[in-house]
Amino acid sequence: PSAPELPHRAPVVTIMGHVDHGKTSLLDYIRKTKVAAKEAGGITQHVGAFEARTSKGKVVFIDTPGHEAFTTIRARGANVADIAIIVIAADDSLMPQTREAIAHAQAAKVPMIVAINKIDLPQADPERVKTDLTQLNLVPEEYGGDLIVVPVSARTGEGVEDLLEYISLTAELEDLRADPKGEFSGVIIESRVDRQAGVLATVMVQEGTLRVGDFLVVGENYGKIKAMTDSNGGRIKEAGPSTPVQVLGFSEAPASGEKVFSAKNEHAARELIAQRVSDRRDAEAARTQRRRTLEEMMGPIGETRTVNLILRADTQGSLEAIQGILAKKETEDVKLNVLLSGIGSPTEGDVLLASTADATILCFSVTASGGVKKVADTKGIEIKTFRIIYELIDEVDRLIKGNLE
Ligand code: GTP
Ligand code: MG
Ligand code: NA
Repeated sequence: PSAPELPHRAPVVTIMGHVDHGKTSLLDYIRKTKVAAKEAGGITQHVGAFEARTSKGKVVFIDTPGHEAFTTIRARGANVADIAIIVIAADDSLMPQTREAIAHAQAAKVPMIVAINKIDLPQADPERVKTDLTQLNLVPEEYGGDLIVVPVSARTGEGVEDLLEYISLTAELEDLRADPKGEFSGVIIESRVDRQAGVLATVMVQEGTLRVGDFLVVGENYGKIKAMTDSNGGRIKEAGPSTPVQVLGFSEAPASGEKVFSAKNEHAARELIAQRVSDRRDAEAARTQRRRTLEEMMGPIGETRTVNLILRADTQGSLEAIQGILAKKETEDVKLNVLLSGIGSPTEGDVLLASTADATILCFSVTASGGVKKVADTKGIEIKTFRIIYELIDEVDRLIKGNLE
């Protein structure tokens, strides 16, 4: 618990649950938006952070995808949360990603509230959901336990006010405080490259205040904030604790989940990074040495066939999700070798690399420009573009199969 003299801050509430159980729709109802209706394939494929003015004051919501591919995003969502809302559809009850979401919330030690959604449906069975929860040792209050369970409908809005009330009560119990005048720290929620604007990073301010002109250090990357917008797209000059902001000013997209610090000036930022680079090189040298020793003992590892890939995605989060799945697809016989992965559209360089290394270029939610397409055509390289993650994965399966035949 923080020192009692610090001011209160808004709760950060992460919404998690199985695919299509209504997480985004619930947020749409609360925020009076229509995000869910516009999503490709009807599924959420990114993490979104939104500041909402509710009848109970400001609440920051983090929407996460329910599709099984996005485990890392869910885990990270739970880690930045003060409260986790587990959304469970009343007509479907507990499903694999519901259990996964519960596990993430428990691992992150954040208080959980269960929202049983879609109670407007005739086949809704909220009692069954409660019984199923009890089997996981999560006992609803009305059964004598301490789990808050709120029946809601994202369609009719029934129960949503109660949910907001429970969020507010839980936040009060947690006594969330932060110092807007203290040293800034935050976390990268998501980052992407916009063709016009450049690198856009969503930063959650956790402590202190972020201002346009500040220098930020993330990993081995730094940037000076050129512009900042709030989660509704409005331009702002500064942002205090519990505020998600989109920041323009990094030259490279920072990795999601990374901590963000500020530096007094460019010189201080560079010095901090130089230290980090040198620490990393030392660690790498030690690893190489260990591997050499191991190879001397065991000899080189046997031949396997390799599928060479170049990956391009719209955001760091989706890139990681794809890489996570690819790692699981590797077998003893076929190795998936990602030669290059990056955020943003494929470049001419990617095409040249693909043609020398006989690689396939897979794009997720980004497309090649006309110029790059032309180069690809002349080199006989196919650039495959997908808007839905499992269609990209199906393509990888085909490539693996083709390689084995
Ligand atoms: P992912 O992010 O892909 O995991 O899905 P989600 O959990 O965000 O669900 P989403 O909001 O996309 O809703 C899935 C479907 O359920 C959509 O067709 C919604 O219209 C529908 N839906 C969501 N909430 C309700 C509800 O309360 N009642 C009814 N009848 N349908 C709902
Ligand atoms: Mg969604
Ligand atoms: Na959905």
